[in-house]
Amino acid sequence: MGVWPYPRWIAHRGAGKLAPENTLAAFRLGASHGYRAFECDVKISRDGVPFLLHDATLDRTTSAVGPAADRDWAELSLLDAGGWHSPAYAGEPMPSLAAVACFVRSNGYALNIEIKPTPGDELATGRAVGHACLRLWHDEPLPPLFSSFRPEALAGARETAPALPRALLVDEPWPGWFEMAQSLGCVAVVSNHKLMDEALRATLRSAGLHALCYTVNEAADVERLRALAIDGVITDAVDHFAAD
Ligand code: G3P
Ligand code: MG
Repeated sequence: MGVWPYPRWIAHRGAGKLAPENTLAAFRLGASHGYRAFECDVKISRDGVPFLLHDATLDRTTSAVGPAADRDWAELSLLDAGGWHSPAYAGEPMPSLAAVACFVRSNGYALNIEIKPTPGDELATGRAVGHACLRLWHDEPLPPLFSSFRPEALAGARETAPALPRALLVDEPWPGWFEMAQSLGCVAVVSNHKLMDEALRATLRSAGLHALCYTVNEAADVERLRALAIDGVITDAVDHFAAD
């Protein structure tokens, strides 16, 4: 198992809940708290552009409603993705993956791209994200780390960007998840922190898989994971936990 190149602390959706999730404003706020690695959720527009959004619909975090996958990027890029959070962020747009790549590469930050397909778009989303990343990151020491709950999305990313690292996300263990992580050539598993214990840590280690956990917001959980020497901790609490 090689040396894990990514920072241990990863800011969830940019800066957790302190700024509107999955916006560049959130990334900048996370960075202002000393974070050098970021997780974000990426899906594709109707015309195939990868951009940041957690939900399948626009309702919760933008000024529009309905499925995001029904709109082209030209339209999505004009929406307000900050006003729902607080007036200070009104007008903040959803960034394209290209804009986020520009930000993290310019600052030497690491990026964990959670491929979060609109249901039914798994393979196409993985392919599009992989393809975009080949163009956005080239021969750099810290490539983006793909992760997804959806194996088909990771398979799509492997098709178009086989050399970029992949991780399977696991919220609840399901039959065959471990074999799936191995068959997808994953370098890591990102689990719900509640699943992580000595046995799982040992299983992953013996298979040469690194171990990351989400979403870790309590000090007691941080201590428990620290004792297990977890490779990556994804947190909302960028104002509570100093990134080391
Ligand atoms: O990638 C880890 C974590 O973000 C997965 O859950 O729902 O916050 O995207 P969610
Ligand atoms: Mg996520």
